[in-house]
Amino acid sequence: MKVLVTGASGNLGRPVLARLLDDGATVRATSRRTRSGADVEWVVADLATGAGLAEAVAGVDAVLHLASAPRGRQTHQVDVLGTRHLVVAAGAAGVGHIVYTSIVGVDRVPFAYYKQKLAAEQAITAGPVPWSVLRATQFPQFLEKLLTISSRLGPVIADGAILGQPVDPGEVAERLVARLFAGPLRGIEEFGGPEVLRLDEAARAWREARGSRRPLLPVRVPGRLGSELRAGGLCTDALPRGVRTWADYLTDTYGGTGRK
Ligand SMILES: NC(=O)c1ccc[n+]([C@@H]2O[C@H](COP(=O)([O-])OP(=O)(O)OC[C@H]3O[C@@H](n4cnc5c(N)ncnc54)[C@H](OP(=O)(O)O)[C@@H]3O)[C@@H](O)[C@H]2O)c1
Repeated sequence: MKVLVTGASGNLGRPVLARLLDDGATVRATSRRTRSGADVEWVVADLATGAGLAEAVAGVDAVLHLASAPRGRQTHQVDVLGTRHLVVAAGAAGVGHIVYTSIVGVDRVPFAYYKQKLAAEQAITAGPVPWSVLRATQFPQFLEKLLTISSRLGPVIADGAILGQPVDPGEVAERLVARLFAGPLRGIEEFGGPEVLRLDEAARAWREARGSRRPLLPVRVPGRLGSELRAGGLCTDALPRGVRTWADYLTDTYGGTGRK
């Protein structure tokens, strides 16, 4: 099977490429930059402008669409309009299956980014290409980034009652590739990590792993956003779940001894 991967250079893209190659797929990958690799055919494409998309989808059987621009002003252009462009190009090229990676909670939690992800899902589900959507929970790298930003002023400033369910991107990659080979679901499935954690528990474990004594300074996220986040809007009951925990990630990253 020949597969195009968008967002192939990202956190999730890297394990997706490895998994596809292990499973014997022929892989083409997009980036906005020129890249090269022995086993992957890299092509340049930009979802914000549509440049390179028609060439990227030509001759592929399936598309794994991971690319996203969560930060900055381009989110609508890249995630929503870019996904529409991609779907139209894939439809014209006769692609048989598009798998889109979304996020658990896009339909409940009122983040501006999630609104764009939901609109991108709709571009997929309304489009001409047989489809599947996989919504994953947060990657531990994302949770760590959030904790790092929250502790810029010294203490870790966070709403400790927010619930998260970190999932290993390698396990998400495995699930996505299994879905790709299983064929179009024409439905949305969810995939989460093995445990639901309060943000204060996650922050304490992070602090310990780094040998840090930063205090936790509790705040309360107001309004509907706060109530959705505390009620588990970012979490899923779906089975199966990943097996790698937040503690596993911290051990891999910092070792067992704790260092700053
Ligand atoms: N992070 C999380 O916790 C999480 C959780 C669940 C689901 N997801 C979803 O999983 C997907 C992958 O996330 P990630 O964390 O791997 O993302 P990431 O590391 O931020 O990578 C983003 C990718 O998007 C590509 N990209 C950005 N702007 C583009 C544009 N204008 N045209 C084409 N490509 C563009 C980048 O490619 P180049 O820079 O090479 O062009 C890069 O490979 C996203 O759809 C995200 O919403 C993320």
